[in-house]
Amino acid sequence: MNEAPNTLVEYGTVIDAHAMVEPPDTVELELEPGHPGEHDAEYIARRKELFALTRHHRLENLGPPLVTYTPEETRIWREVSPKLHELHDKYACALYLQAKRDLAITETEIPQLKTLSEQIDRETNMRLVPVEGALPYRTFYEYIAERGFPVTQFIRHGSHPEFTPEPDMIHDCLGHVPPLMNQDYAELLTLIGKAAATTPHGDQVLALKRFSWFSIEFGLIEEHGETKVFGAGILSSTGEIPHSLFSPHATRRQFVTDAVITTDYDPSQMQKDFFVAPSLPFLRRELESLVRRFNIPVL
Ligand SMILES: [Fe+2]
Repeated sequence: MNEAPNTLVEYGTVIDAHAMVEPPDTVELELEPGHPGEHDAEYIARRKELFALTRHHRLENLGPPLVTYTPEETRIWREVSPKLHELHDKYACALYLQAKRDLAITETEIPQLKTLSEQIDRETNMRLVPVEGALPYRTFYEYIAERGFPVTQFIRHGSHPEFTPEPDMIHDCLGHVPPLMNQDYAELLTLIGKAAATTPHGDQVLALKRFSWFSIEFGLIEEHGETKVFGAGILSSTGEIPHSLFSPHATRRQFVTDAVITTDYDPSQMQKDFFVAPSLPFLRRELESLVRRFNIPVL
């Protein structure tokens, strides 16, 4: 590996080999400079309210709180989700479409994470963990290893409904949450979590992050001779869906683990490298052999 894992800031998790300790209780919401909501006092107040609520529920292990969404939050959901639904119908993989129907995620109402979590728990024994924002990477993976998937419960700023500089509820609910209904997906994810939370080696964490990035987050998958969208980062972006499948500025290669774990990526840009996995069981087998090769004692 040619880069230290503690130099990477990841989409949804902060990669810092030394940031293994929970932030103290005095931690407050901080929007990064240039965030579309940074000068909107009402938006910041709402984000602070949800930050405190979800952080409390996470640290006290209470599960997702029931949230009354504001008219503005619902307006944003109603603007973005129909555009995504239309693209999903054409380009998303079958397991995603089936799960979204089973979870009854609609274009009109923001779902309650509590309800989704209960449904997913019944199906695959995974649960949604409400989070206030990015977590230290080890904390993030420790939740996944314990079959909890960290999800945000705030909505992006209304001035740019199709853009968010940080993972929000639209990214999580319309990207990550539906596949959690699939048992193979749940096992793949928890194995990534166990391996990444267990190994003390930064280069192995980086390899596992790349495996996850090019599958769970930005993966494509083969289905009846067609390439379909699988990764949450693609599924939750009206720009990335056509870009990943058709852009001449992106490469689409067969998923070969040794190529995947040595390929770098930039979370702040449209992606330029995509890997196409032949199936979900294939990804699981590849991950198991990688974990064995790394001698991480989690199998
Ligand atoms: Fe994500």
